[in-house]
Amino acid sequence: MKNQQGFATRAIHAGQEPDPSTGAIITPIYQTSTYVQEALGKHKGYEYARTQNPTRSAVEANVAALEGGKAGFACASGMAAIGSIATLLQAGDHMIVTDNTYGGTYRLFERVLRRYQLDFTYVDTGDEAQVLAAIKPNTKMLFIETPTNPILRLSDLARLADISRKRNIKFVVDNTFASPYIQRPLDLGADIVIHSTTKYLNGHSDGVGGMIIANNDADIEWLRFVQNAEGAILGPMDAWLVLRGTKTLAVRMQAHNANGMGLAEFLTGHPKVQKVYYPGLTTHPQHELAKRQMRGFGGMISFDTGSLDNAKAVLGRVRLLALAESLGGVESLISHPATMTHASVPEAMRNAIGVTDGLVRISAGIEDLDDLKDDLTQALSVL
Ligand SMILES: Cc1ncc(COP(=O)(O)O)c(C=O)c1O
Repeated sequence: MKNQQGFATRAIHAGQEPDPSTGAIITPIYQTSTYVQEALGKHKGYEYARTQNPTRSAVEANVAALEGGKAGFACASGMAAIGSIATLLQAGDHMIVTDNTYGGTYRLFERVLRRYQLDFTYVDTGDEAQVLAAIKPNTKMLFIETPTNPILRLSDLARLADISRKRNIKFVVDNTFASPYIQRPLDLGADIVIHSTTKYLNGHSDGVGGMIIANNDADIEWLRFVQNAEGAILGPMDAWLVLRGTKTLAVRMQAHNANGMGLAEFLTGHPKVQKVYYPGLTTHPQHELAKRQMRGFGGMISFDTGSLDNAKAVLGRVRLLALAESLGGVESLISHPATMTHASVPEAMRNAIGVTDGLVRISAGIEDLDDLKDDLTQALSVL
């Protein structure tokens, strides 16, 4: 049951059979650390829960089916997933990374992985020429986000897959911002997809988790080994919450798409807003690419209020939108990238990628659009 059925059907059924012992339609939370063996060397395929857990296996199969991949690996967080991917590299290897990548990814690469003689170059991966110019003889991985956080710049997945394949570079896509409903990088030639399931896949802001989806047998074998060797696994309760979340992924993403577009249009027409970043707007420089590789334009919107004081005033006055980090939940969140998600990115780099002090980011939830607009209208009225 992989690509034959529609996305919404797979979201609800893939990886899940009624529980054989009771018929329970929902996969149980196997909250256990070990499994009793009938005799020495005789067991049901489960020995120890770091290595195998049925709830985790179900969510891995489910998300792999949604991304069109052969195997999934559920991790303790999105960062744990990215850390595991880095083990595909060896000391001396070089990685090309999207320049306005998530701040935590930048921190992991610069503050932790450089200590292990890995080298990183950050470029605008939306510009093929910059990617080509950054390739070195030791470049082994291209790691991108599209759309990026928080400026919502895009990279052309099919083109980058082609460039990577020809040069034997592993192409990894962080698909957290889009979700597999909106875009499926493996279909366009990527080797590996990662997610912070904390966001759209869980969708209810009640669990932290990560997922790796791979297609290549050698990668799958290594990642399975590393998942057990390093042990950064997703616990059964959190795995179950993601399974519960993906059941409604299709309808939630349709609602996120609609509210994202609605808020982007509303902000564009607002006299106090200086600039709006949203791939669904015809003014977005990569709108044509967005139409080509995305199904809808997502729930993430950023806008520039012009100054730190203005951003503070708006953030201090919202009532329905909650001032919080994170994204992708059913409730709308609002945040200040320069001091929150991107605080660990040096100021010069922040300014270069457009993360100004006046920038505000919204994760549009699935509330009624008019209520969100009313809240922003009253919050922006202080400016
Ligand atoms: C695009 C992206 N990738 C990875 C992560 C890290 O995920 P987690 O917080 O689940 O470790 C985040 C978190 O915000 C993110 O936005």
